[in-house]
Amino acid sequence: MTTSAILVMNGPNLSRLGKREPHIYGTETLEVINEGIAVAFPEVRFGFFQSEDEGSLIEKLFEIEDEGEWSGVVLNAGALTHYSIALRDAISSIKVPVVEVHLSNVHKREEFRHKSVISAVCVGVIAGFGVQSYHLGVRALLG
Ligand code: DQA
Repeated sequence: MTTSAILVMNGPNLSRLGKREPHIYGTETLEVINEGIAVAFPEVRFGFFQSEDEGSLIEKLFEIEDEGEWSGVVLNAGALTHYSIALRDAISSIKVPVVEVHLSNVHKREEFRHKSVISAVCVGVIAGFGVQSYHLGVRALLG
């Protein structure tokens, strides 16, 4: 594989970035964030996917696994991070590496956000750097 192909995947409520609790998540919309990622890494072929729905995220992971042409996934699973065993099992079942990212530092926030059920099946975790968390996730996958 010559060109890296990376899927940037966002879960529930992240479609509301820009409007949603900007003091925590910043003022940029998801569209602007995604454009910024593509501009920062012109050598990478990106896919972008967001869903409010756990099942759609899982189906997307299986789809890219079966396509066999993706180098990795940068995943902000939103609240699913903290409780979705189904998402964890899906990540665990695929070979494509997944990096867990969060805009906010979840460890500085409510206790229920301190636990991630997906971290152990991801290659690594990046949290607390705002939009840069996504960029660092891409950088990590590029090696
Ligand atoms: C988040 C943190 C989660 O706890 C929360 O449910 C989100 C966003 C983050 O990017 O900081 O939806 O993943």
